[in-house]
Amino acid sequence: MITDNRFLQQSDSRLDFFRCFLQKPQQVGSAFPSSRFLERRVVTLAGLRKARTVVELGPGTGGITNAALRELPPSSNLLSIEINHRFVSILRRCSDPRLLVHHGCAANLREILHYYQLPQPEVVISGIPFSNISRGKGQRIIEEIHTALSPNGSFIAYQVRDLVSKLGRSFFGNAEVLRVFCNIPPLRIYRWRKKTCRNDI
Ligand SMILES: C[S@@+](CC[C@H](N)C(=O)[O-])C[C@H]1O[C@@H](n2cnc3c(N)ncnc32)[C@H](O)[C@@H]1O
Repeated sequence: MITDNRFLQQSDSRLDFFRCFLQKPQQVGSAFPSSRFLERRVVTLAGLRKARTVVELGPGTGGITNAALRELPPSSNLLSIEINHRFVSILRRCSDPRLLVHHGCAANLREILHYYQLPQPEVVISGIPFSNISRGKGQRIIEEIHTALSPNGSFIAYQVRDLVSKLGRSFFGNAEVLRVFCNIPPLRIYRWRKKTCRNDI
C-alpha cells in the first residue's frame, strides 16, 4: 500500500512537540519526541506484521504512529488516542485510511473502541507518562487496556520511570524489560502479554 505519511516526518514536528511540552509539561511528559531508534524498537517488539487492530495511546506528533503504519498489513486499523488537541490536528493530516485519530483520554479506551466498532486489539502501545498522572487514573488506564486486549494480546509501554511496571504487574504479572539508551532521555520498554488462563506463562 502506498501511503503519504510524510506529514509526520516534517522537521517542525520537534518544534511542535517542544511547544506542547512547554504548555503542558506533566501531560506531555518529555521535551522531545521519541528517537528513530526507539520508534523502531517499540514497533519491532510489538510484532505488528500480522496484526489487524492496534491501539496507540499518546501518539504525540506521530513518530511511532508512522513507524507502526509502515509495518501493519493493508487491511488493519491503527486507533491512536491523544488527549492534546494540537497533536490531534497534526495527526489528522495523515491520509492513511488505516489510521483513526481520536481526541480523548486513554482511560475511556473500551468506550472509544466501541464507538469505532473495532474488535479487541492484539496490541496496545502506550507512551503515556504514567508517573505524571494520579495513581488512580493510571490504574484505570491499565485496567482498560487489560480488559480491552484480545487473549494473548501484547501491551507495550515506553517510560522513563518505573511506576508503570508496578501498575502493570497487578493486572498482567511481570513485564519483559528492555533498556534503550539511544533516546533523550534514555528509557525502558516494558512488554506484557495478556494471559488466557491462570497457568499460562
Ligand atoms: C511522552 S509523549 C509520547 C509522544 C510520542 N508517542 C512519542 O513517542 O514521541 C506522551 C503523550 O501522551 C499524551 N497523553 C498524556 N496523557 C494522555 C491520556 N490520558 N490519554 C491520551 N493521551 C495522553 C500526551 O499528550 C503526549 O502526546
